[in-house]
Amino acid sequence: MNTGIDRISFYTSNYFVDLKTLAGARSVDADKYYLGIGQEKMGIPPPDEDVVTLGASAAYPLAQDGELADVELLLFATESGIDQSKAAGIYVHGLLDMPARCRVVELKQACYSATAGLQLAIAFVARNPGKKALVIASDVARYELGSPGEATQGCGAVALLVSSDPRLVAIEPESGYHTEDVMDFWRPNYRSEALVDGKYSTMVYIHTLLETWKQYARESGRSLADFDRFCYHIPFTKMAEKAHQKLTRKLKAPVGKEELETLLAESLRYSRITGNCYAGSMYVGLVSLLDTSEEDLSGKRIGFYSYGSGCVGEFFGGVVRPGYRDFLYADKHRNLLANRAELTYQQYEDIFNYGVPSDGGEYVFPQYKTGPFRFSGISQHKREYESLVD
Ligand code: HMG
Repeated sequence: MNTGIDRISFYTSNYFVDLKTLAGARSVDADKYYLGIGQEKMGIPPPDEDVVTLGASAAYPLAQDGELADVELLLFATESGIDQSKAAGIYVHGLLDMPARCRVVELKQACYSATAGLQLAIAFVARNPGKKALVIASDVARYELGSPGEATQGCGAVALLVSSDPRLVAIEPESGYHTEDVMDFWRPNYRSEALVDGKYSTMVYIHTLLETWKQYARESGRSLADFDRFCYHIPFTKMAEKAHQKLTRKLKAPVGKEELETLLAESLRYSRITGNCYAGSMYVGLVSLLDTSEEDLSGKRIGFYSYGSGCVGEFFGGVVRPGYRDFLYADKHRNLLANRAELTYQQYEDIFNYGVPSDGGEYVFPQYKTGPFRFSGISQHKREYESLVD
C-alpha cells in the first residue's frame, strides 16, 4: 500500500524585506546575500501573525476543499512555540473547525520536527487506511539584529495532508537517520532569538547528510543516479547546493553546474524569496519543486534530506504520483508570493522590536494584512485569534 503526501499547501507573511535593503543598513555588499548565501528576500511576520495564524492559513485551502473531514491526527511541528503546555495545533484545530475526534500534539526538534511528524503520520495512516493525518510545520526564523544569521531569517508554514493512496508523493519506507548531541543552533526558553554557531552548523549539516546517506544507500541499495530531483532542508539556498556538491564529490560522482541546476534549482525558488521557514523549509522546497517544474514529474523519484540542529537528520525518498498537478495550490502560492508588501528598513526594525507583551494586561494588536486569520491581541496571558472568513 502506498502512503505519503496527499495535498500540500504553503503560506507565508504578506511582508518581506529585500536583502539589498538589509545590506544597505549593515554596510555589506548585497552580493554577499544574493550570491554568497543565495537569498533575495526574507519574509517578516507583522505583530498580528504568529505560528498559529501562519499554520492555520496554510491549512485553510484544505479546509475549504473539504479535505480535513477525515483527519484524526494533527501534528504541529515548530521551534517557535508560543506556549510551554498547550499545543499550537489546538488553536489551529479550533480556527479550522476540525472534528473533535482528533489527536493534536506539538512536535519539536529544530527544523527536523516536520519530518518526524510526516513519518508518524505515515505510520498512522498505514494502520488506519481511509483516515488522514495533517502535519503542519510553522515557524518564524529570528536571529539578533546585526548578527550573521540575520539575512537568513524568514517565516512560513506548510500543511501536509497525509493519507494512504496519496495523490502527490508516495513516501518510500527506506530511511537513513542520525542523531548527535551537538550545540550548533539552539534557543533557550528565555530568548526570542536563536543562538547559532554559524560555520559549525554548516559543517554538522553536511556531516549528518553524509551519515544519513550512507545508511540510506545501504538499506535501499539505491545510488544517487536513482533520483531525479532532491529537496534539502534550506536554511539558505547556497547551503543546499553546497551540501549536494559535497555529497556527490564524496561519492566520486561530482555534479557540474548544469546538472546541479536540474536537480535542485526548482526546489529552491520559493525559499530564495521567503527565507528559512525552519521546520517547514524542506517542504517549502517540495512545494516549490512541484509548483514550478515545467517538466511533468510523474513517476520521478525525489531524494529528501531533512536536518534539524542539535541535531537529527534523515534521508529518505518519495515518488511523484501520476496526475499530481491537478491537486496542487500552485496559483494560490504564486499570487501570495507576487503580492507581498515590501518593508523599509525602519518598518522591519519596528516590527522586529514589537514583541508580545508578557505582563498579563489587555492588548489589541494593530491590524496588518494577514491571511484568513490574525493574532488579534492578548488578554490575561491568553492569546486571542480572529477569523477574517466565515
Ligand atoms: P557569514 O559568516 O557572515 O558569511 O554568515 P560568510 O562571510 O561566510 O559569507 C557567506 C558566503 O558569501 C561566503 O561564501 C562568502 O565568500 C560569500 P562561501 O565561502 O561560504 O562559499 N560572499 C560573497 N559572495 C559574493 N559577493 C560578495 C560576497 N561576500 C561574501 N561580495 C552563516 C554565514 C551561514 C554563518 C550565517 O548566515 C549564519 O549564521 N546563518 C544561520 C545558521 C545557518 O543557517 N546554518 C545552516 C546549517 S544549520 C541548519 O540548517 C539548521 C537551521 O535551519 C536551524 C534548525 O535546524 O532549526 C539553521
